[in-house]
Amino acid sequence: MATVKTTPGKKLPQPAHPKSLHGKKPSQARNFKRVLLLNGPNLNLLGSREPGVYGAKSLKDIESHLVQLAHSSGAAFTCFQSNHEGGLIDRVQAAAGEGITNIIINPGALTHTSIGLRDALAAVRIPFIEVHLSNIHAREAFRRQSYFSDLATGVICGLGSRGYDLALQAILQTG
Ligand code: DQA
Repeated sequence: MATVKTTPGKKLPQPAHPKSLHGKKPSQARNFKRVLLLNGPNLNLLGSREPGVYGAKSLKDIESHLVQLAHSSGAAFTCFQSNHEGGLIDRVQAAAGEGITNIIINPGALTHTSIGLRDALAAVRIPFIEVHLSNIHAREAFRRQSYFSDLATGVICGLGSRGYDLALQAILQTG
């Protein structure tokens, strides 16, 4: 058995941080999640926009609920909405330098049109979950095609705002 000699009155060196985090700050721990929520065009109108299709909750309500959910699990959570394709592409590119570990994205109408946003997600290689409030497969034919689904870790549609919660839970439960 090893013995450790100590000088009376002399403090042993202490680890910088609690042992459970292996000497790292929570944000440096290996499985720390830094999640980015992206919403595309017209999703700023949630609550008033076709509530029969998209529900009665505002984007602000949805975002604050997700922030709480993420923080209660010790994860960082950032939200961004834009009506502009370029703004979303810039945000995805910036995410790569911010240590974002996961993206939840509802690209709105860009789902069916944007090769540029698809390419940005492919370029940064941050795993993402695609969410749609409505069931895009039960609507007009043009909504059935997504430029994102084949790159996504998972796709959730038709469950309303609960889809965002489920996407976040899936991320938080994955090591
Ligand atoms: C949507 C579905 C899209 O077809 C539509 O253009 C949207 C919202 C959804 O959440 O159901 O803007 O992404």
